[in-house]
Amino acid sequence: MQKKQINIQFRNHFHFSAPWGWINDPNGFSYFNGLYHLFYQYNPESSQWGPMHWGHAVSTDLIKWEHLPIALKPDQEYDMDGCFSGTAIEHEGQHVLMYTGHVHPAEKDRSEAVQVQCLAIGDGVQYRKNHANPVIGKNQLPSDCLIQDFRDPKIWKKGASWYCLVAARGISGFGRLLLFTSLDLLNWQYIGVTLEHFGNLGDMWECPDYFRVNNQDVLIWSAMSLPRQKMQFKNRDSVVYSLGSLDIDTGRFTGNAPRELDSGPDFYASQTVATPDGRIVLIAWMQMWERSIPVDELNHGWAGSMTVARTIEVRDGTLFQWPLAELEAYRKNHRVYHALLHGARTFERLSGQCLDICLKLTIPADAIFEFFFYQGNEEQTVLRYTEKDNLLTMDRTLGGVPIRSTSSVSPECQIYQTEVPLKDSVLDIRILLDRSAFEVFAQQGAYVLSTTVYPKDTSTGISFNCLNGKIDLKCEVWDLLIE
Ligand code: FRU
Repeated sequence: MQKKQINIQFRNHFHFSAPWGWINDPNGFSYFNGLYHLFYQYNPESSQWGPMHWGHAVSTDLIKWEHLPIALKPDQEYDMDGCFSGTAIEHEGQHVLMYTGHVHPAEKDRSEAVQVQCLAIGDGVQYRKNHANPVIGKNQLPSDCLIQDFRDPKIWKKGASWYCLVAARGISGFGRLLLFTSLDLLNWQYIGVTLEHFGNLGDMWECPDYFRVNNQDVLIWSAMSLPRQKMQFKNRDSVVYSLGSLDIDTGRFTGNAPRELDSGPDFYASQTVATPDGRIVLIAWMQMWERSIPVDELNHGWAGSMTVARTIEVRDGTLFQWPLAELEAYRKNHRVYHALLHGARTFERLSGQCLDICLKLTIPADAIFEFFFYQGNEEQTVLRYTEKDNLLTMDRTLGGVPIRSTSSVSPECQIYQTEVPLKDSVLDIRILLDRSAFEVFAQQGAYVLSTTVYPKDTSTGISFNCLNGKIDLKCEVWDLLIE
């Protein structure tokens, strides 16, 4: 394929993007033959969603990626309109991909679409679709589910059996997760409904993930058209998680009320990989459906990034996300600041757009903390903490090139909030700033916000402000450089 020209003005430095074209969900996030593999929903022909391919990249440390040739193209009768999302696993020295074949000819109504689960097997670079495809289709789908919304298989092995969790929509119009099993990857039987909600948790679910960490079963999925719940689910679609337990014989998952995984505007369709040293690492599409994407509108030839890889842990019933330790190897130019904040202030040598910033704040009653970044003439993004109501607010209203919501249910997409309790009056925040994306991790990663923003390259200013009292501020900063 011919290499396409792109405009690199807003390209991120340490957030993964395709070499050109559109990306959405991470796919087949796996460890195979000594390398981490990241596939992704990819349209190489445009910076907008289109016929889905599986783009492909590999890494030794989950931070620095090398692009490989496209792994899957929509070229079969059962996937001719897209190779949709799925997962990957190693089996007998081969790399097994399981994905959704999507058929929906443009002239036909969406209700005539067909989605089925398919296999492709490869050596880590080239993949061959299985002659038995589709391996899970209409015959295995319960009759009260719709074949037009049946996608995103998550595959794993336990003992001698394979298991596959697939997202579906019941005929009554609500999201469901279904569990299937197989002894040979080719013949699959339906076990049962893993989880369903009738009406209070969206009309379709996508991208299910299941893993065990810290002796806890975790189910993660992406839910569409979720009704807003106080501060949660501000976007039309959100990634949610539930901690509980999966009964592999009945397929049932019993867990606590689903919670939002990331409170920012740009986080969707996450996937995890288990590392050889036993960590669970998550990556997500750092974007959202029903949004304008400046680099597409400006014809820059690319759209979409992934979050940085995050370690997932469960402690005392809470899920924590933290930038992968491997990222720290790319830190340069360590700076340390300590001040009693009272009013506005800046620090020497503290500016830039590709930074790892760790803040430790001791916040007295009623104080308001403000952190401004990507600051320039008429541009700035703000992170604000108000002690009175424990609210952490991200405001990108003046962030740069405007981003618009095209969603009628969530038309406002600039200001996002989450409640973050202080711990002994302390708020700790780590913020990873990249050229057009930043991630905020509060209280060791119990609260996370992922956001895209498109400031000028001259908007490198960083400053702080404290209203109502004095805040003890400790700040450590590094440049993040991935050569
Ligand atoms: C989630 C999703 C998946 C689907 C893919 C299509 O963002 O809608 O359900 O497989 O994107 O690109």
